[in-house]
Amino acid sequence: MAISLDSKDRLIFALDVQDKNEAQRLVKLLQNRVGCFKVGLELFVKEGPEILKLIKDYSPADIFLDLKLHDIPATVRGALKSAEKLGAKYITIHSTEGEAILETSKEVKDSSLEVLAVTFLTSLHQSQLCKLGFEQTTKLSDLVLDRALKAQQSGCAGIICSGEEIAKVKQKCGDDFKVIVPGIRPEWSKISADDQSRITTPRKAIQAGADLIVVGRPIRDANNPDEAAQKIVSEISNSAR
Ligand code: C5P
Repeated sequence: MAISLDSKDRLIFALDVQDKNEAQRLVKLLQNRVGCFKVGLELFVKEGPEILKLIKDYSPADIFLDLKLHDIPATVRGALKSAEKLGAKYITIHSTEGEAILETSKEVKDSSLEVLAVTFLTSLHQSQLCKLGFEQTTKLSDLVLDRALKAQQSGCAGIICSGEEIAKVKQKCGDDFKVIVPGIRPEWSKISADDQSRITTPRKAIQAGADLIVVGRPIRDANNPDEAAQKIVSEISNSAR
């Protein structure tokens, strides 16, 4: 890992909740426990940019605006310019459409906002590729690597991928290109009706070279979210290379 971080700073908590009241409760509880709060579509659509202010009022942690922007280049470029002023550290764009969208990341290259490219969602399984029009022999990990290389060449700061692709991406893209990994399921977590497919544990993700991991439900739905986050931070700490 190129960047030197505390174990806590490598944990991103996905604030996948319905409204600002629930967000405030969890941000207060985990304010010094995690390195970053991730605001996704559910919360951002409901509460708008004000939610970032609320997080900042209660916690020094970074903010990840996970909007997974997917539109024509001019529109994504405009959205990135608008987001630049909100005070988030990370924002996501989709990589499906190739370089024209990925290069919109250059729009904010002089700001502190880092653009991350979503490769393939961690809810997707290798067995679903055929239905999406890919050849039967196509390997999902090769597709992820291809998108990662394009994202890097286009100026993105890093990518989002699953635990299964971390080592390959790190090997080809190098240490400075950030690899952020959702689909994290600690061995002790039990998620009912889980929609994630390409899952891994915090230990395996960190050992494979993930810079940061994203954890939502295993913390949010735990009986004691603070204790769950603590357990994940110590797993990160015990696994760091
Ligand atoms: O609850 P869980 O730990 O599955 O949450 C994972 C989070 O990471 C969700 O907020 C989801 O939107 C996000 N994410 C993902 N897969 C990606 C990119 C983001 O699961 N490829």
